[in-house]
Amino acid sequence: MALDMPQDRKATRARVSKLEHTDSGLFIQWRDGHSSQFPSIWLLSSCSCAACGSSESAVRHIKLTEMPARPVIVDAILDVDTDTVSIDWGEGHMSRYKTDWLRGHCLSPAERKYRRPRPASWGGEIAGNLPYMDYATVAGDDDAHLCFLETLRDAGFVILRDAPKERERTEEVAALVGKLRLTNYGIFELEAKPNPEIVGDMAVPLELHTDEPYRIEPPAITFFHVLAQSNHGGDSTLADGVRIAEILRDRDPDAFELLCRVPARFHRTLREGRAFEYHAPIFARDGDGQIRGIRLLDRGMGPVDAPLKDVEPFYDAVRKLLEIIYAGEARITVKLQPGEMLVFNNQRLMHGRTGFDPSASRRHVRSCHVDLDEFHSRLRVAYRVRNREEAWMVLGCGASSA
Ligand SMILES: [Fe+2]
Repeated sequence: MALDMPQDRKATRARVSKLEHTDSGLFIQWRDGHSSQFPSIWLLSSCSCAACGSSESAVRHIKLTEMPARPVIVDAILDVDTDTVSIDWGEGHMSRYKTDWLRGHCLSPAERKYRRPRPASWGGEIAGNLPYMDYATVAGDDDAHLCFLETLRDAGFVILRDAPKERERTEEVAALVGKLRLTNYGIFELEAKPNPEIVGDMAVPLELHTDEPYRIEPPAITFFHVLAQSNHGGDSTLADGVRIAEILRDRDPDAFELLCRVPARFHRTLREGRAFEYHAPIFARDGDGQIRGIRLLDRGMGPVDAPLKDVEPFYDAVRKLLEIIYAGEARITVKLQPGEMLVFNNQRLMHGRTGFDPSASRRHVRSCHVDLDEFHSRLRVAYRVRNREEAWMVLGCGASSA
């Protein structure tokens, strides 16, 4: 959800038409008709005057326990020239808040909902209209770069065209999102290998899945840098985990609820001497019930560790989910070309590929990851330098159940 809005509406949102205070809080009526209430402890604990310090830098000179639990507002003053509200706490202590900051942090249900991106789920209908973007434009133009980040947030993926074809430049392209998160796999070379340990290194078809759900924090923004492509198969498949979840929720709400609640066991043991395991529900939701992520690797699920009453219903629910996925509902297929880079959120999208014939032509894809933290940071900074309100969006989407 982009929060683009005309400048005049933007200005109205942050314009105060009435300011009132009681001992215990602040009330603001905005020019667009909305109203906000801010409890005094919320205001005082957000104060960033020189004496209080800044929570954004974590250089704080006062602790919550040193503040009164219900601080009393002596006065509240609006300065229309600087769009600033000042709160006088007495004894010379003044807090100042920009009006757009107050509006951007309004505690009303409507504004809290407004700050949360609602991913528009997609299915097969986007097949003819995939989010392709030109690498040189995204790399060379700040607005195109922001559009790339927003598309990645809203659709969950972007395909960059005409990216560098050189093997050693994968990291440079990934830097469009942020610094790499390296795991034991490093930058992974996906190709048919003579003695493969994982199926990614084989030529077999792969059903839709998310990568590495056996980690506490699975890889998030994932890059498939295509260096060589098979002429005999090797097409990529993608599906939006949010749409898959919606399909299951509509058809079998109980199965969906169960897969949001009962942790599945994901594990992976490697010859190099590593044994990963994590238990988490397949679907993650936020506090508002919004689906925010998926983790699912059907081939890598161990026996569920759940109360007996949940065990058979769990397997029934997973079966229903997999039937939807295997049937190809909401799935798209795309043949990536050498020099293209598929960038996707592995905590939202599922991916797979058709089988290929490695003896007929070579297929080589390099894969690496960037954390959601890095991605969200890039978005926030891009909005901040443009003085845009989206800087205060709550970008919590992901597969983590915390
Ligand atoms: Fe994968």
